[in-house]
Amino acid sequence: MIHFLFEGKSLQATEGQSLAAALLANQERITRYTRGKSKPRGIFCGIGVCFDCLLIVDGVSNQRSCLVEVKDGMQVRIQDGA
Ligand code: FES
Repeated sequence: MIHFLFEGKSLQATEGQSLAAALLANQERITRYTRGKSKPRGIFCGIGVCFDCLLIVDGVSNQRSCLVEVKDGMQVRIQDGA
C-alpha cells in the first residue's frame, strides 16, 4: 500500500493503480468543478476521452486522473475551472 494526499487528506492506494481508481476506492467522487457554473465533475469514461476527471497533481493542472498512476506522496487537488 502507498499513501497520497487528496485535498490535504491522506488516502491509501495500491501501487500501480490509476489515480481515478484510487479516488473511487476511497469514496471520492469529485475531481473538478466546471468553469462558469462550478458544477462538480468526476470520473466518467475512465479511458482518457471525456476530460471530466481533470485534477491538479503535484501542482500541475489538467491531469486526467484515469491516465495518471498514483504514486506514494503524490499531492492531489480538485481543479476549480480551467
Ligand atoms: S474519466 Fe474521462 S478522461 Fe478520465
